[in-house]
Amino acid sequence: MSRYKIAVIEGDGIGREVVPEGLRVLEAVGRRYQIDFDWRHFDWSCQTYLNTGRMIPADGLDQLRGFDAIYLGAVGYPGVPDHVSLWGLLIPIRRAFQQYVNLRPVRLLRGIESPIKGYPPGQIDFCIVRENNEGEYSEVGGRLYRQTEAELAVQETVFTRRGCDRIMRFAFDLARTRKGHVTSATKSNGIIHTMPFWDERFSAMAKHFPEVRTDQYHIDILSAHFVQHPDWFDVVVASNLFGDILSDLGAAVVGSIGLAPSANLNPERQYPSMFEPVHGSAPDIAGKGIANPIAQIWSGAMMLQHLGESGAAQAVERALEAILASSDVRTPDLGGNASTRHVGEAIAREISEVAEP
Ligand code: NAI
Ligand code: MG
Repeated sequence: MSRYKIAVIEGDGIGREVVPEGLRVLEAVGRRYQIDFDWRHFDWSCQTYLNTGRMIPADGLDQLRGFDAIYLGAVGYPGVPDHVSLWGLLIPIRRAFQQYVNLRPVRLLRGIESPIKGYPPGQIDFCIVRENNEGEYSEVGGRLYRQTEAELAVQETVFTRRGCDRIMRFAFDLARTRKGHVTSATKSNGIIHTMPFWDERFSAMAKHFPEVRTDQYHIDILSAHFVQHPDWFDVVVASNLFGDILSDLGAAVVGSIGLAPSANLNPERQYPSMFEPVHGSAPDIAGKGIANPIAQIWSGAMMLQHLGESGAAQAVERALEAILASSDVRTPDLGGNASTRHVGEAIAREISEVAEP
């Protein structure tokens, strides 16, 4: 029996609806694979902020430090500015725990029709490797002369050699286990200092991996290629902002933002890694019980993989794909009318009753 201590943060909006389904599926696979989860719930959210003036307590990061992993829903809700909620919870965790890799698979599953015609399942299968600690998401900057005609805002982008090299090395290492191809997202024609530096570090890293094929595109045409040629990609490495935007586009190309999982990884395992869907708290559908829980459930599979439970991880992925391929149990974002809970229960049942360990 393996045992893991997992910190659970449902957060806001549909986070509170999809996380319970993720836990339901993880419990089901745990029973099948002799994995015992010690869940510890942290009720940190925008409501916490409204009650206490903080998204997490002053010692919040210390409370999380000893866990094997963090399982997160989403943060952000009307009533609290989005930069306050994101910088109060998600970004401090990603930074304090050196989760510098944001790994976001983009895979067309069986049973899902891509809005891009002519692609069968399997033909779209790549990973976005997003830099998760620096880049465009920096606190360097400020505002001057507020509320006057002269008012201004300055925001600095910060790229370090260490930050670029470690994310690129991760991308190349990952490509070696896949199809051996890395694409870099750049904009070195328009962004005159940081992006040429990014390109330099990319070609320097490529020299250490002669067996890996490389290419690079400016972010504008790369976005077009995501739509017109999604089969071109294997591993796409991108800065914090570019990777964020590309991940929602990738999710749309393979059917729904409600399907897209992600892992915030500290590859050195000095700190816990965090697993969460790509999507946010979806206030427009929160409380209706119709959010797609599959992104959250698949993020749970990524957590199992990180914990070394690859058999259980594969069982979860097989089960969610089987439900999509062989039933009409699906939420409205995929054209169905099933509830969040109904989908979670179907996947958990598939694991308990059908999948062979
Ligand atoms: P969002 O991802 O929450 O929603 C975008 C659209 O996709 C909405 O129409 C929503 O209904 C739909 N959607 C998202 N997840 C879905 C699911 N599982 N099933 C079905 N439909 C789904 O992005 P938005 O609207 O930009 O942000 C809403 C809030 O979430 C904001 O406060 C934002 O700051 C926060 N946010 C938090 C993230 C995180 O915690 N990692 C990531 C993105 C946004
Ligand atoms: Mg995003």
